[in-house]
Amino acid sequence: MDVRDLLWYYFPFPSLVTLFATLRMWIHRGLLALSQFLLIVHCAPPGFPTSGNGLWFTRPGVVWAKDWLPVGNGYLGGMYYTIHSLNPAAMTPGGTGQETVQLNIESLWSGGPFENSAYNGGNKQAGEREAMAMALKDIRQSIFQSPTGNIDNVSVLTTEADNFGSFAGAGYLISNINSTGDIPKYSRYLDLDNAIARTIWTQNDTTFQRTLFCSNPTRACTQHTTITQSRPSATSSLPSLSYVFSRGFEEGLPTPNVTCVNSDTLQVRGLVGGASMTYELLFQAFSPDGTIHCIQFPVPSGSPPNATIEITGASKEAWITWVGDTNFDQEAGNAASSYSFRGQDPHESLLALLTHSSSTPSFTAILDEHVADYQSVTTKPFALDLGQTPDLDTPTDELMSKYQIDAVNNEAGNVYIEWLTFNFGRYLLSSSARGVLPANLQGKWGNGLSQAWGSDSNINIQMNYWSADMTNLDVSKPLFEYFLKNWAPRGAYTAEVLYNTTRGWTVHNEIFGHSGMKGGGGTANVWMMLHVWDYFDYTNDLDWFKSVGWPLLKGVASFHLDNIFEDLHFNDSSLVVTPCNSPEQPQITFGCAHSQQLIWQLFNAIEKGFAASGDADTAFLDEVRAAQAKIDKGIHIGSWGQLQEWKVDQDSPSDTHRHLSHLIGLFPGYAITSYDPTLQGPVVVNGSDVTYTKKQVVDAARMSLIHRGNGTGSDADSGWEKAWRAAAHAQLGDATTFYHILTYCIQRNFGPNLFSLYNPMDPDPIFQIDANLAYPAALMNALLQAPDVPTLSTPITITLLPALPPTWSNGSIRGGRVRGGITVDVAWRNGKPTKAQITVDQNAVPRNVRVVYGNRVVDSFLTTPGMVRSIAKVRSNT
Ligand SMILES: *[C@@H]1O[C@H](CO)[C@@H](O)[C@H](O)[C@H]1NC(C)=O
Ligand SMILES: *[C@@H]1O[C@H](CO)[C@@H](O)[C@H](O)[C@H]1NC(C)=O
Ligand SMILES: *[C@@H]1O[C@H](CO)[C@@H](O)[C@H](O)[C@H]1NC(C)=O
Ligand SMILES: *[C@@H]1O[C@H](CO)[C@@H](O)[C@H](O)[C@H]1NC(C)=O
Ligand SMILES: *[C@@H]1O[C@H](CO)[C@@H](O)[C@H](O)[C@H]1NC(C)=O
Ligand SMILES: *[C@@H]1O[C@H](CO)[C@@H](O)[C@H](O)[C@H]1NC(C)=O
Ligand SMILES: *[C@@H]1O[C@H](CO)[C@@H](O)[C@H](O)[C@H]1NC(C)=O
Ligand SMILES: *[C@@H]1O[C@H](CO)[C@@H](O)[C@H](O)[C@H]1NC(C)=O
Ligand SMILES: *[C@@H]1O[C@H](CO)[C@@H](O)[C@H](O)[C@H]1NC(C)=O
Ligand SMILES: *[C@@H]1O[C@H](CO)[C@@H](O)[C@H](O)[C@H]1NC(C)=O
Repeated sequence: MDVRDLLWYYFPFPSLVTLFATLRMWIHRGLLALSQFLLIVHCAPPGFPTSGNGLWFTRPGVVWAKDWLPVGNGYLGGMYYTIHSLNPAAMTPGGTGQETVQLNIESLWSGGPFENSAYNGGNKQAGEREAMAMALKDIRQSIFQSPTGNIDNVSVLTTEADNFGSFAGAGYLISNINSTGDIPKYSRYLDLDNAIARTIWTQNDTTFQRTLFCSNPTRACTQHTTITQSRPSATSSLPSLSYVFSRGFEEGLPTPNVTCVNSDTLQVRGLVGGASMTYELLFQAFSPDGTIHCIQFPVPSGSPPNATIEITGASKEAWITWVGDTNFDQEAGNAASSYSFRGQDPHESLLALLTHSSSTPSFTAILDEHVADYQSVTTKPFALDLGQTPDLDTPTDELMSKYQIDAVNNEAGNVYIEWLTFNFGRYLLSSSARGVLPANLQGKWGNGLSQAWGSDSNINIQMNYWSADMTNLDVSKPLFEYFLKNWAPRGAYTAEVLYNTTRGWTVHNEIFGHSGMKGGGGTANVWMMLHVWDYFDYTNDLDWFKSVGWPLLKGVASFHLDNIFEDLHFNDSSLVVTPCNSPEQPQITFGCAHSQQLIWQLFNAIEKGFAASGDADTAFLDEVRAAQAKIDKGIHIGSWGQLQEWKVDQDSPSDTHRHLSHLIGLFPGYAITSYDPTLQGPVVVNGSDVTYTKKQVVDAARMSLIHRGNGTGSDADSGWEKAWRAAAHAQLGDATTFYHILTYCIQRNFGPNLFSLYNPMDPDPIFQIDANLAYPAALMNALLQAPDVPTLSTPITITLLPALPPTWSNGSIRGGRVRGGITVDVAWRNGKPTKAQITVDQNAVPRNVRVVYGNRVVDSFLTTPGMVRSIAKVRSNT
C-alpha cells in the first residue's frame, strides 16, 4: 500500500447511488490503509541507519540488475536476492522459504590461456614483426597522404579477439528455512554505513533477520540467520536451515562437484574457461547450539556429486561463511611463466582461510571486525553532506520512481537520492576494488556465464577509479599491480611485434594480458597513466612511486617516444600519433586530440616525477623534454568554433557520440582546463603560427561539449556518458547544465537498486558499474576542483563550490582530497562557503596553492608539511 493507492480510494465514485456504500468502504479501507501506512509498510526497517545511508525495500527483488543488492570484499562479490514471497499463495504448505545469493569470484574469467593453450594475448606471431613494421610504415604514409587524413581500416594490424573471455558468475547459494505461511512484515535493506545487506520478516510473532556481508580482512562472506525478537507465544527456536549450491541458469559450464569436506563444510569445485580454470568455494556452517550436518545427496552414478548443509535445533542463530578462489595467478603473467597466468590449485589456501578452532567463534566479533575495516577505509576518512533530509518513510524503489530531473527545489525529495547515490558509488568501489584484480566493468558483480563486452577494461576502469583519490578512498593499488603484472609484460611483446618498438609497452585492453589490437588502435596505456600520476600527486607515496608508479610511467612514455612521428600531412614539424582513433569513433587518422593531450600530460608527469623517482637516466628525461616541446598538444580550434577531435578538422556539429575523448583534457585531465599558452602554443593554422588564449580554448571545449548532447544519443543511452558530461559541465562552472545532466543520469539510467543501467528501458537491462563509480567524481567536481597543472611550479588552483546547484545550498565535505597531499574541509550555507580548511600531509612536498571562490583568489600560499590553514576570507563571506 502506498499513498497513491490511498488517494485512489477518494476519487473513483462509480455513481451517486453507490455513494454511501463507497463512502463506508473508503472510510474502512482508508483507515486500514492508513494504519498499514503508519504502522507497518512505510517505515524503514529496524536497524536501518537513521542517517538514511542505505537502500530499503518492502518487496522481494525480481530482476538481477534492478533489484538485487550487492555486497563484496574485492575478492568475492555477492548479489543478494530473496524469493521469500509476500504472497501466501506462493508459499506452498510444507514449502521452504528461500533466499539466494548470486556468487562471484574476482578471477573467475573464461577465455585466455586456460581456454586455449595457444592464446597469446590477441597478438601477432613473432615472425610477423617485420611484416607489421612494413605495414605500419605503409599505413602511416597512406594516412599522411590521404587528402582527408583518414584511411579505411587497419585490418592488417588487428587480430581476432579469440578467447578474449569474460568475467563469469560462480553460481548461487540457496538458503532455505523450513517455515511456512504468510509474511506480513517483510523488508530488506543495504546498510551503507556498515556494508551489510539484511532481510527482516515476521512469522507467528517471531522476527527473523538474515544478514549478509563480505569482509575484506578475512576474505570471506558470511550469511547469518537469527531470531531477533519473540513474544512468549512465538516460535522459540530457529526452524531448520539448509544450504545448497546451484549453477542455476549459468548454462554452458560443467556441473561442479559439490561434496562434504567434513560435517560442517561444503566444497564446490568446478571448471570454467574450456574446462581448465578451476574454481573452488568452501562453505562452513556455524551455530553455537544447533546440530550441523553435511549430507551428500544420492545422485545417479556418473553424475557429479551434490550435497547440502543442514542446521537443526539452533535456538537463536546460525550462519554460513564462504571463501572462494581460482587457480588464476597474475604473478604468472610474464614471459618467464610463459604468460600462463596459472597458479596453485586454490584448495589449500582456501582451507587455511576457514575457522579451525573447535569452539564456535562469536558472530558479533566477526561482524564488528568487518564493520570496523569498512568504516576505516570508506566512511571515516570522508563524508559528504548535501543538506539532505533522509526519507525513512518511503522505500528506495518508490523514491527512485518519483525522482525528477531538474527538481531544483527538492520537490521530489531529490537531494536525499543524490546523496545516497554518491555514497552508494563509494560503497561499490570500496567493496569491489580491494582484491587482487581491479574493479571491472561489472565491479565484481556479474551474473551468468558471460557479461556484456566481456566486462572489458579500457575506459571503464579508467572511469571506475575517478572518485577514489578525491574522496579519500585509498583502494587503487590493486589497479596499478594489475597494470604492472597483467598488462606490462605482454604489452612489451605487443610493442615489439606490432610496433617494432623495443622499449616500453602498450595495450589495447584487458585481463590475461590481452594486449593485441582489436579495433582501430587506441592508447589505453597512456589513458591509465592519469591514475598512476594522480595517485602519487595526491599521496606523495614515495616507496610506491619508486617501485610501481615510476616504472609504469616510464614504460608507457618510452613506448610513445618511439611512436610519435613528424606530421607529414600538415608539415608543421609537430609530432603526432599515427594511426590513431578517437575512442570508438570510426575515423582512423593521425593526431587524435585524445592521444595527443594524454601523451603531452604523460610527458609532463615524467618531468614532474623524475626527481622523486630516483632514476638516474637523464638521457631519457632529455628525450622526453625534447618530445614534449615538439609534440602536437591536441588543441586545435575548428571551423565551427569546436575543439577538434582530430587534427584534421572533420568534426560534425551533430555528432552526439557517447565518448568525450577530445575533452579528456577538460575532465579528468588538464590539457584544456589548465591550458597554458606558453607551454601549449603556438599551432600552425593555414601556414601561420597562432597562439590561442585560455579563453579561446575553454570556449571551444564548451562548444564541443554542448554539441555532444546530454548522453542519450542514437549510439547509446548509458549512465557513464551522462556522468562524464555532468563532470565536464561542472568543470566549466555551469551549475545548471551540470545538475540537469546529473539528475538526468539518475532519473534515466539508475535502477531501483541504484545500479547504473546501460539500456534502462529493457526489462532485463545490462548493469555497467562505470556510471555508479563516475557519479561521485562528477558530483565532487561541482563542489571542489583542483585540476593538475603542467609543472610542479605552476600553482595548484583549488576552487571552492565551482558549480554548486541551488538545491544543495547547505552542505559540507569532510576529508576531501586534492593533489599536493592536501585535505580540504569545506562547509557552506545558503550557497556560500562558511568554512574552508586546508590540512597538508606530513610527507607532502611544498606546492604553491591558490584558493579561488566566485572567480576571486581568496588565498594563496606555499604549503609546508603538516600545515593547517583556515581560509579567513571565506569565513567573511557569510
Ligand atoms: C624494425 O626495427 C629494427 C630494429 O630497430 C630495424 O632494423 C628495422 O629496420 C625495423 N623495420 C622496419 C620496417 O622499420
Ligand atoms: C582495408 O584497407 C585496404 C587498403 O585500403 C583495402 O585493400 C582492404 O580491402 C580494406 N579491408 C577491409 C576489411 O575493409
Ligand atoms: C507458524 O505457525 C503455523 C501454524 O501453527 C505453522 O504451520 C508454521 O510453521 C509456523 N511458522 C513458523 C515460522 O514458525
Ligand atoms: C520442517 O518442519 C516440519 C514441521 O515443523 C518438520 O516436520 C520437518 O521435518 C522439517 N524439515 C526439515 C528438513 O527439518
Ligand atoms: C544440488 O541439489 C539441489 C537440491 O536438489 C539443487 O537445487 C541444486 O541445483 C543441485 N546443485 C547442483 C550443482 O547440481
Ligand atoms: C569432479 O569429480 C570427478 C570424479 O571424481 C573428477 O574426475 C573431476 O576432476 C572433479 N572435478 C573437479 C573440478 O574437481
Ligand atoms: C607535406 O610534405 C609532403 C612531402 O614531404 C608533401 O607531399 C605534401 O604535399 C606536403 N603537404 C602540405 C600540406 O604541404
Ligand atoms: C584556412 O584556409 C582555408 C582555405 O583557405 C579556409 O577555408 C579556412 O577558413 C582557414 N582557416 C582558418 C582558421 O583561418
Ligand atoms: C536529451 O537529448 C535528447 C536529444 O537531443 C532530447 O530529445 C531529450 O529531450 C533530452 N533530454 C533531457 C532530459 O535533456
Ligand atoms: C539552508 O540553511 C538556511 C539557514 O541555516 C535555511 O534558511 C535554508 O532554508 C536552508 N536551505 C535549504 C535548501 O535547506
